[in-house]
Amino acid sequence: MSFVAGVSDSELPLLCCRLTAPVEVLAEARPGKHLPRHSERVPLPGSELRVEAMEGIVVRLRAAGCVFAEEEARLLLGWASSPVELDAGVAKRVAGYPLEYILGWAEFAGLRIALDAGVFVPRRRTELLVKEAVRVLSARRLPEAGEGLSPGRGTGQPQSAGAAGAAGAAGAGSGDASVAPYGATGRRGPAGAASVYEPGEGAQSGAGVVVVDLCCGSGAAGAAIVSRVPGLELHAADIDPVAVRCARRNVDLPGGWVHQGDLYGALPAGLRRRVSVVIANAPYVPTAEIATMPREARDYEPRLSLDGGPDGLDLQRRVAAGASDWLAPGGHLLIETSRLQAEHTAAIMAAEGFEVRTVRSDELEGTVVVGRASGRRPRV
Ligand SMILES: C[S@@+](CC[C@H](N)C(=O)[O-])C[C@H]1O[C@@H](n2cnc3c(N)ncnc32)[C@H](O)[C@@H]1O
Repeated sequence: MSFVAGVSDSELPLLCCRLTAPVEVLAEARPGKHLPRHSERVPLPGSELRVEAMEGIVVRLRAAGCVFAEEEARLLLGWASSPVELDAGVAKRVAGYPLEYILGWAEFAGLRIALDAGVFVPRRRTELLVKEAVRVLSARRLPEAGEGLSPGRGTGQPQSAGAAGAAGAAGAGSGDASVAPYGATGRRGPAGAASVYEPGEGAQSGAGVVVVDLCCGSGAAGAAIVSRVPGLELHAADIDPVAVRCARRNVDLPGGWVHQGDLYGALPAGLRRRVSVVIANAPYVPTAEIATMPREARDYEPRLSLDGGPDGLDLQRRVAAGASDWLAPGGHLLIETSRLQAEHTAAIMAAEGFEVRTVRSDELEGTVVVGRASGRRPRV
């Protein structure tokens, strides 16, 4: 439910629309797979009963302040296997429990991402991080056959084959993302707008390329990148064991690894200086602003996934400072940030020796700072 009243500008990064694809697209999707364009499954018997149930649910959700009551009602109808279960699900939702925790999944970049309670719900704005990472990967010189990097060594575990591997061979996507100087502004995108991605959209093969998804949460961003750049080696990492368990369900593919630990400390030592792209959607809400966030985030998402310290930038500083030990020459670091914090994120990365540009998408309401390792010594 999107309880949007009283949201300050700095909360907007954590508020972006959760329901981003048409209901009929979402209802039949499978974890980690592109969403097929089928009609929804509604388990309750009889169309009249369904309409009645739907209307009742919409009224209850609206009264609770739910902005996308119709869409959520349809999703709940598609989820419940009995009227009793439906009633319980609606009651939870009315109490502010995140819809995605009830459903057990979230839609992200055209994928259905398995989601466990207590794991950060992937936001639509983070599709910009995916898009820019795919763009960077598409633009780089890919290694010749046999030049590939070997799997990292150390603490990781291989994941079973499966999930989000298939993709086509298009460009990195056009969308409305624009490269902007620090601090570019923009308006929020339309609520409920469909994903900017289409099944099959993606980059060329990523064989031999290593990507690291720091602070991976559910693993949504890394899984989405792999779905568009097949064959790359993905190392996702998070400090929270609940998130790590969830990410292992989504990063379940050959070449996909999920590690637990504090930022780079989670990664196998064998990856040092061999990573092409590091992405990070690390917590960036200033501590004092968490109290003003929407109830579903404040009350149900772990504080660890939100709290970026006094100015929101603590984790970003550490991510930027540690990147040069892990990136290959010319590698890229991409950090999601907010519109208001972008200038500071870019300055932090520049001080660590990155050539930086800030990318803003009005449609996705997202901001990403893209840094290329320049080889320059960072300031001391
Ligand atoms: C804002 S959430 C983003 C999750 C995911 N990247 C996404 O976009 O959906 C931040 C994540 O960072 C993790 N985190 C917080 N501090 C961390 C640390 N020191 N090392 C690794 N992960 C951390 C949290 O557990 C949480 O899953």
